[in-house]
Amino acid sequence: MDEMLGAVDVVDPYPLWQSLLEGGPLVSADGAFALLSSHEHCDAVLRSPQFSSDRRNSTRWQAVAAAMSDADRARLERQRSFLFLDPPDHTRLRRLVSKAFTPRTVERLVPLVEDLTAGLLDRAGDPLEVVSQLAYPLPVTVISRMLGVPEEDHVRFAGWSEVLAKSLDDTLSAADAAEIRLRRRAVDDFRAYFTHLCAQRRADPRDDLLTALVEAEDDGDRLSNDELLSTAMLLLIAGHETTVNLIANGTLALLRDERLRDDVAADPACAAGLVEEVLRLDPPVQMTMRIPLEDLDLPGGRVRAGATVVLLLAAAGRDPAQHPDPLRLDVTRTTPHLALSAGPHYCLGAPLARLEGRVALSALAQRLQQPRLGRLEYKENRVLRGPAVLEVMTA
Ligand code: HEM
Repeated sequence: MDEMLGAVDVVDPYPLWQSLLEGGPLVSADGAFALLSSHEHCDAVLRSPQFSSDRRNSTRWQAVAAAMSDADRARLERQRSFLFLDPPDHTRLRRLVSKAFTPRTVERLVPLVEDLTAGLLDRAGDPLEVVSQLAYPLPVTVISRMLGVPEEDHVRFAGWSEVLAKSLDDTLSAADAAEIRLRRRAVDDFRAYFTHLCAQRRADPRDDLLTALVEAEDDGDRLSNDELLSTAMLLLIAGHETTVNLIANGTLALLRDERLRDDVAADPACAAGLVEEVLRLDPPVQMTMRIPLEDLDLPGGRVRAGATVVLLLAAAGRDPAQHPDPLRLDVTRTTPHLALSAGPHYCLGAPLARLEGRVALSALAQRLQQPRLGRLEYKENRVLRGPAVLEVMTA
């Protein structure tokens, strides 16, 4: 089962997801691996306290960790962000930053997101390369401003962020030694970078998230230095390595359908509906995983404590039991999807992702006159899947 997922086609994984959805839940004979693809099953696991997000509970992870030196293991422990923690640590760390991402706070960013989008599109040429000229710079600039990361540093951390975004593919296949070395370097460089920025904020506080985190650390036992660095890295990476795919995948949907372009250009509600449909049909995060804390009966069979349970969010979005006529893109659909997860780890940045998607796709729909697709290449990422290059030619 593991091998089958390791060989996923990044350009079009959907025929495989469809066959897995039709085949129903899968559990390996030894109960060490399971794959769930229906909306109902994925939703239930995401909300269940019997499943952990903490890789330390995974038998597979424990085997990898046992082969490491004590120093390497300790180093990995230090780097854990709250995406990979359970309550109570997860709750404590998430709460420290959640205020910055509420729908109300995010709504105040509308003028910034609109101005940035207009400026990027004004500067873009013909052909427009959507990824490098809009889909990447927009979210990276917004999250950098929220955190207090200087914009000119994007070029410095783009490579580290790319390496760490790719590390989520470990859900599917173990990384090789060279990749692990790259990752270690990326984490060390990122930590050194944020350590330096945090020292600056301590000396010269500003109205940004990094200052808020530094103050929480100084306040006592609410946040350790390792947690501060991991949280800053998580927000910066999650804040753009996902939304870039939403905007690029949304552009592809606009290119396929002239009527959709007209509707989205004319009506902000259609742009918001398109964002939901792109999330459902072509999700930037294709899957996630959970680890059962005890032996449990799943719909496909019994899993053992510590098993790897893969939740195929991209298949759940096409589940006809949840979304009638699932392959039809319908901007008025209201059935909830799981592209932003569910339960305690529900995407913290969901309001921001939706805002950036809506503004970018609406601006694109207004500007693209008789667009034609040029070069299209996909990143080698299976979990955070999306185009690396997406060229659009206009009339
Ligand atoms: C379209 C864009 C995005 C998608 C599809 C997306 C998707 C997701 C998903 C599926 C999860 C949960 C994974 C799990 O349950 O295992 C998640 C968590 C998270 N996302 Fe997003 N995300 C997006 C944008 C953002 C943005 C803009 C931010 C801003 C900082 C962000 C920050 C986070 C954080 C901090 C978590 C961890 C939440 C937790 O563990 O409690 N995301 N996201």
